[in-house]
Formats: sequence, C-alpha cells, structure tokens
Amino acid sequence: MAILVTGGAGYIGSHTCVELLNAGKEVVVLDNFCNSKPEVVAKIEQVAGKRVVLYEADLLDCEAVTGMFRENKIEAVIHFAGLKAVGESVEIPLTYYHNNITGTVNLLEVMARFHCKKLVFSSSATVYGTNTDVPFRETHPLSATNPYGRTKLMLEEIMRDTYVSDNEWSFALLRYFNPIGAHKSGLLGEDPNGIPNNLLPYVAQVAAGKLPYLSVYGDDYDTKDGTGVRDYLHVVDLAVGHLNAFDYVLDNPGAEAFNLGTGRGYSVLEIVKSFEKASGVTIPCQIAPRRAGDIATCYADPHKAKKALGWEAKRGIDEMCEDSWRFTKRNHGLD
Ligand code: NAD
Ligand code: WQD
Repeated sequence: MAILVTGGAGYIGSHTCVELLNAGKEVVVLDNFCNSKPEVVAKIEQVAGKRVVLYEADLLDCEAVTGMFRENKIEAVIHFAGLKAVGESVEIPLTYYHNNITGTVNLLEVMARFHCKKLVFSSSATVYGTNTDVPFRETHPLSATNPYGRTKLMLEEIMRDTYVSDNEWSFALLRYFNPIGAHKSGLLGEDPNGIPNNLLPYVAQVAAGKLPYLSVYGDDYDTKDGTGVRDYLHVVDLAVGHLNAFDYVLDNPGAEAFNLGTGRGYSVLEIVKSFEKASGVTIPCQIAPRRAGDIATCYADPHKAKKALGWEAKRGIDEMCEDSWRFTKRNHGLD
C-alpha cells in the first residue's frame, strides 16, 4: 500500500516525501509542476536513497487522477497541492477557487470511488483571520481575509461535511503556522519564482546579494520591537508532523483540526538578526508601511497536536536560518 502525496514536488511536500521514504513508506507523487520543478523529485530520491512513483498530472484532470488510483493501491492521501500566494489570490480569485476547491473536490470524489477515505490536509493558520487572541487554539472562531484563506476555510468545511455524510472518512486538518528552513543536505528548500512574498525567502535573497535590502512592513505594532511576530517552524519538523498525522488518520475517523507550530513568536527584526548570525552577512533593512491584511502577532497553541498526534517541533530558530542559508547558497551557486 502506498501513500499518495499531491503537490509532492513543492516546498513542504518534498520534505515530507523524504521523511515518508525514510520511514519505509511507499510514495506516489502527483504534481502538475505549476509551482515546482521535476528535478525536485530526483533530489527527493537522492536524499532518501529510494524511488518514488511520479505522476505529472493536474488534480483538475479527473481521468488522470482516476488512472493513478487504478494503477496504485493508495492507503491514504497527504494533500499539499494548491496555489498559495495571498496577493495573487486577490488578483485572480477564480483561478484560486477553481484550482484549490475544484481540484480537492475532484480528489475526494475519486478517493471515495476507490474506498480510500483517509486524508491529511494542508490547512493554514490563515483560517484564524484577524483574531488577536494569541496563542491561537483550534477552538478559536475562524474567518478569512483573502480568497486564498477562504479556500482553506471552505475546504475544511467541505471535509467536515464529507465526514458527516459518511463516517468512514478520516481527515486531519493541519493548520501550519510559518514554515521556513530547508533540508540539511542543502538540496531541498523553498525556491519561489520571481520576487519572494514571504519573509524568509526574501531575507535569504538579500543575504545572497540578489536583492538590495529588506522592507520591514511596519515597526509600530504592539509587539516587543514594533515589528510583526510570527510562529516560524522548521519545514522538517512540519514534514515529520505529517507522519504522525498519517498514523492518526489510519485509526481515527472524523475531521479534526491541529495547529502545527512551535508556540513561540519571533519578530521580523529577530529573524533578521538570526539570519545575519547564520550567514555572517549584514541584511540592510528599511522600515516600510504596514502590509495590508497583516496582523501584529500570530503564534500557535500547539498542545492539541502534542496530545493527539504525539508531535512537537524540535528545531530552533538558529537551525532554521542556518539550513535556509545552506540551501540558498547552494541554489544560487554561492558555495
Ligand atoms: P508549493 O507551491 O511549494 O507546493 C504546492 C505544490 O502543488 C506545487 O508543487 C504545485 O506544482 C502543486 N500543485 C498546485 N496545484 C496543483 C494541481 N491542481 N494539481 C497538481 N499539483 C498542483 O507550496 P508549499 O509551501 O509546499 O505548500 C503546500 C501546501 O501547504 C499548500 O496547500 C499551501 O497552501 C499550504 N500551506 C503553506 C504554507 C507556507 O507558508 N508554505 C503555510 C500554510 C499552508
Ligand atoms: C511574516 C512577517 C510581514 C515580507 C503568510 C500567509 C499565510 C501562510 C504563511 C499559507 C510579517 C513581515 C514579510 C517582507 C516583512 N501561508 N515581512 N517584509 O504573512 O505571516 O503568512 O505565509 O498559508 O497564509 O499570509 O508570512 O513571511 O509573508 O510575513 O516585513 O518582505 O514578515 O509583515 O510580519 P505571513 P510572511
């Protein structure tokens, strides 16, 4: 029996494939490479020393997804595939709704047809919306501030409804906080197209000399140093969380949400300092206006994941920045 990893060539998916292979699982990757490259799959195999079965296919193509299920015995699905850029989702909402919602509904329909009813879903801390009551607990009210976030919120609801309609289903809705870092090998990491939107890839490209300075979006928040605070977690810790969630869905029908975060917040300036320490490079910063839609502080209450999944984040901020820098250097040919 194999595990299907949709979006397995992406940033979080690739790290999760390595952990699954290391744990002796059979892995089938389905990815349309709209935000990743086929070379990543070869790197996953190189790092793990094992093969994956690859389908270059789109979740919007029901026939291709059905064919993949027909050709493989799929025990459970870890579902990463989706579009994830907040700003872009405001510009092309229908593309986001179609890809993320229709793509997932297609997947669930095909899964039901093949009696495969166990799924680990990439949700996001974005479903806590503009909540200010930190730390965020799974019981907090949910809302969305942009189409991307709304796709996550709707998909969580679609999965809850699916379970209500058929109690054989088992969903783990994993609400990731801010994944950063890279694999120790320096072969896998986050490599966004164009100018990065997220803090860490931006800082890394400034350190690599690809961008001149970091714009710090606001220094007048009610936080320790006035800059935004987030719960950054190492992508390998996050990947390991999916193994725990996979074990969970095998035995626990339902549609249960879990925060995956460290429970600790770091400010933008603390991240800059840590990255400077890891790289030995000074990161020039300019204070800029607040970014629309940003909140001051966001961090997880991670206790539910610890209790129910037996998972907690282990790697600290310095290791996250060191690993991210190793990958950036290698990726830009600087080492
Ligand atoms: P990513 O873009 O690196 O990976 C997503 C992968 O899915 C890509 O390889 C892309 O080619 C593939 N894909 C997209 N649409 C597809 C489709 N219709 N059919 C087949 N493949 C498709 O993103 P990531 O950072 O690895 O995120 C993975 C998941 O986690 C996403 O669902 C994202 O929304 C969610 N998430 C990410 C973060 C984050 O900060 N990275 C935080 C919270 C949640
Ligand atoms: C972190 C902090 C910025 C860039 C986003 C999505 C969220 C989730 C994770 C998917 C904030 C500041 C950033 C820069 C800066 N993704 N910043 N200069 O906004 O917490 O979360 O990614 O689900 O849905 O919204 O992450 O890395 O963009 O920002 O000052 O150039 O860094 O203001 O305080 P965010 P981020």
